[in-house]
Amino acid sequence: MSTKRDLLSVTDLTADETRRILDRAREMKTPDFETRGPKPLQGKNIALLFEKPSLRTKASFQVGIQQLGGFSFYMGPEEVGLGVREPVSDVARVLSGYVDGIVARVNSHTSLEELAVYSTVPVVNALSDWEHPCQTMADLLTIQESKGKLEGLGLTFVGDGNNVSRSLCLALPPVGMGFTIAAPPGYCLDDGSLDLARNRASGASLVQTIIDPVLGVQGADVVYTDAWTSMGQEAESEVRRRAFQGYTVDAALMEKAGPEAIFMHDMPVHYGEEAPTGMLEHPQSVAYAQAHNRLHAQKAVLELLLGSG
Ligand code: CP
Repeated sequence: MSTKRDLLSVTDLTADETRRILDRAREMKTPDFETRGPKPLQGKNIALLFEKPSLRTKASFQVGIQQLGGFSFYMGPEEVGLGVREPVSDVARVLSGYVDGIVARVNSHTSLEELAVYSTVPVVNALSDWEHPCQTMADLLTIQESKGKLEGLGLTFVGDGNNVSRSLCLALPPVGMGFTIAAPPGYCLDDGSLDLARNRASGASLVQTIIDPVLGVQGADVVYTDAWTSMGQEAESEVRRRAFQGYTVDAALMEKAGPEAIFMHDMPVHYGEEAPTGMLEHPQSVAYAQAHNRLHAQKAVLELLLGSG
């Protein structure tokens, strides 16, 4: 019987496993880990199957796999053809005979689910239209490094109810963090995700929605934003720009959050929309450290799912 594990959603991990990933990622960040650390992916081959462009995810997975002793190869949007050139089930079955794991960035989350059903090797979500779990692991690592803890903190996401905010909403309550989304009417997270997050909450951590971004960030330990228009929604960009007026996270909004709050963005930034030019250099911004942490968090994820012994 197969014992393979997939990571399609942050809900595929228990709170304890999330904490273990963060602990291991911190160990993997130490300067001599690469030279003296174990190589849990030695002899393993991993396919990176991307239907959408990427900088951070592609580069950090490739480098991370190499640092752990494994080999990866990239197939980009022009050669994947999931469900177009051939059925997802055939891609999954064929790749399973060549590789030990599939890291996939897909247009539709259902493609990822289908890949997982038909592949006999672990499938890792490198972003779908529904979730971005690897981003969330790096985000939690960054918050823990910046604040020294997770439990009892509150994060306010200012912006769209998208894949990034959904993964945060579902991952934070089990580790004792509160989650608030400040979004204009019609752009909040769906009720199903909010209810699921509330059911996963540990202790007193709250999951809240609010329309007013100024009220939303007051008392927040972390203020997080993301693009108003995600990849694949380009046709809606003008409508979205109008709907999100007033939701830019700038220095003035960070003042409302207070001097101890940190600013986060998963990048790439649509400068002039969700954040002004220069916002990532704001003294309260940890966005570049957050991007760098993708490398370490994903190595810990891969070791958990694919590591040998
Ligand atoms: N944050 C993120 O996933 O970046 P890329 O789209 O560049 O991979």
